[in-house]
Amino acid sequence: MIGFFDALARPLMRMLDPEAAHGLAVKALRVAPLVRPQPDDPKLAVRAFGLNFPNPVGMAAGFDKHGEVPDALFRLGFGFVEVGTVTPLPQPGNPRPRLFRLEPDEGVINRLGFNSEGGEAVLRRLAARAHHGGIVGINVGANKDSADRIADYVRLIETFAPVASYFTANISSPNTPGLRDLQQARTFDDLTARVVDARERVRERAGPTPVLIKIAPDLALGELDDVVGIARRRRVDGMIIGNTTVARPPGLRDRATAREAGGLSGRPLFALATRMLAETYVRVEGAFPLVGVGGIDSGAAALAKIKAGACLVQLYSALVFRGVGLVGAIKTELADALRRGGHRGIDDLVGTDAAAMTAEPWPD
Ligand SMILES: Cc1cc2nc3c(=O)[nH]c(=O)nc-3n(C[C@H](O)[C@H](O)[C@H](O)COP(=O)(O)O)c2cc1C
Repeated sequence: MIGFFDALARPLMRMLDPEAAHGLAVKALRVAPLVRPQPDDPKLAVRAFGLNFPNPVGMAAGFDKHGEVPDALFRLGFGFVEVGTVTPLPQPGNPRPRLFRLEPDEGVINRLGFNSEGGEAVLRRLAARAHHGGIVGINVGANKDSADRIADYVRLIETFAPVASYFTANISSPNTPGLRDLQQARTFDDLTARVVDARERVRERAGPTPVLIKIAPDLALGELDDVVGIARRRRVDGMIIGNTTVARPPGLRDRATAREAGGLSGRPLFALATRMLAETYVRVEGAFPLVGVGGIDSGAAALAKIKAGACLVQLYSALVFRGVGLVGAIKTELADALRRGGHRGIDDLVGTDAAAMTAEPWPD
């Protein structure tokens, strides 16, 4: 049923302006009579940072920015859903147009700039569905005009702790000027100290809530050394690699759209993001788990992320081109690969290719 609807709707959606299509997709999910999916193959279960994930395939941040449809996304088969980025105060983001499809490349460029309904509205929505369960991460960010950006992250952790399964501190969006500077060693040390402190403060009233850091795939390896060293010392719970890229790989076919400012995602991001994931994995040395994101559009791509070092994956852009049936297809392919290789579970494969990947030539 989902597949039928999806096959009909996708060509129509792609005729629309991308942001209108996104709005329509969220509206459709709000009303769609989706049934609960088949229980996941037990081989796909993953335990990471104290949480039990039924399967490793998550909805990446940016699709459900305002917490409108987490339950519909679970019914599509996602093992976890990341809501946000949420900013403390409502803000409109950048002027439109700010979302572009690179059709022949199966890529997306966005410069949304943290359009957010703000913490209060999103919290109210998530509190109303909290009894439904499911792993819902809250991706938090800073308001554009904030005088103390780190305080925004702290405030959101304190506010959302009762409804968050985990937090992601998004310090890697390219669309809020200066935000990525939070990845610079001295500021990053201050940020991690203060968000980890907030995590400890909310533990008593809300239980343990892991805090992950989402980084850019554009960091230089020297910067990655610093970021990983600090994250380990400050005992963050995990990292997400990564966000969209400001790079434009030379192989892009839609050269005109590629000139739009913003972060590139989807298939053209896969090679860079996977390499950065492997580079992160070899530096983390098992101190915390990693989430692999960027250009996943098949079971093989998800498996490559796992072998590069991720125990969980997330995706967004490929849904635009491949439709929501992709989630089930990836899970089936992963379970088949585990069975074929005689593996007990995802854990057996995490990072098995990481060292070899870091020895390959740098991807374009
Ligand atoms: C339209 C759009 C909006 C996004 N918004 C956010 C966001 O608010 N916060 C965030 O951390 N990442 C955001 N992302 C990045 C995604 O979460 C993901 O890291 C990136 O798109 C790479 O995955 P993909 O290639 O599967 O799309 C956004 C991506 C897209 C395409």
